[in-house]
Amino acid sequence: MKKLIAGNWKMNGSLAANEKLIKDILAGLAQPACQIAVGVPSAYLAQCQALLAGSVIDLASQDVSAFEGGAYTGEIAAAMLKEFGVRYAIVGHSERRQYHGETDAVVALKAQRALGCGITPIVCVGETLAEREAGQTDDVVKRQLAAVIHTNGHCISEIVVAYEPVWAIGTGKTATPEMAQQVHAVLRAQLLAASEHADRIKLLYGGSMNAANAASLLAQPDINGGLIGGAALKVQDFLTIVGAAA
Ligand code: PGA
Repeated sequence: MKKLIAGNWKMNGSLAANEKLIKDILAGLAQPACQIAVGVPSAYLAQCQALLAGSVIDLASQDVSAFEGGAYTGEIAAAMLKEFGVRYAIVGHSERRQYHGETDAVVALKAQRALGCGITPIVCVGETLAEREAGQTDDVVKRQLAAVIHTNGHCISEIVVAYEPVWAIGTGKTATPEMAQQVHAVLRAQLLAASEHADRIKLLYGGSMNAANAASLLAQPDINGGLIGGAALKVQDFLTIVGAAA
C-alpha cells in the first residue's frame, strides 16, 4: 500500500508562515510516491485549503467535535471541516487526551463523527513512559484502539491509526524501528481480528520521526507512514521524510 506522511503542525504558524511553508514544500515536491497531508490549526483551514488546491497534499484537521452540531461553544463539527476540503482528522492525540481530558470513549465518538462525514480519522494511541516501564504498553494501546473498534466496527477498515509513544513526542527520543514494529504488529493483529479488510489500514508511527530516522522506521513491515510534528515545520526535513516513504 502507499504510505502516508502526515504533518501535525500543532498550534504553530501564522498567515505568513503557513503560506511560505506550503509554497516551499510544494516547490520541493517532485512526483511523490506516497500520500501526503498537513494537519493545520482550524483557524487556517480556509487559507490552507486555497494554498493546497489542486496539489498532491491533502488537508487535515487536528481535532473534530464528538458532537454533530448545536450548543457546543468552541467546537468544530465534522460537517464544517468537510466544507473546507478536510480529508483527514487527527483524533485522540496524546496532547488532547492529556490537556483536554479526552477519554477513549470520546475519541471513539470523534472518529465516528469524522467517518460519518467522509473524513478519515487518524486515531492516535500510545503509552506514557511510566506505562512502558510497567510493561503495560500493549494493554494500553489495545484498550485505546478497542474503544474505537467497538464504536466503529463496521467501517473500521476506513480509519488510519497512529502509534505515538507519549515519551517520544517532541522529546527527540524515538522508538527504535523494532520497538515500533512490535507495537504495530499488536495493533495490526487486533484490527485483523475485528475486520477481514484490516490489512489495508494504514498504521503510522509518530514521535520524533525526523529526516535521519524516517527511512529505518518506514522500512518496517507494519509501519505504513508517519505522523510528523516538529519536522513537519521544516521544509527540507519534511521533504526528506516524504522521500523516505517512496
Ligand atoms: P513530534 O510530534 O514529531 O514533534 O514528536 C509528533 C506528534 O505529536 O504527532
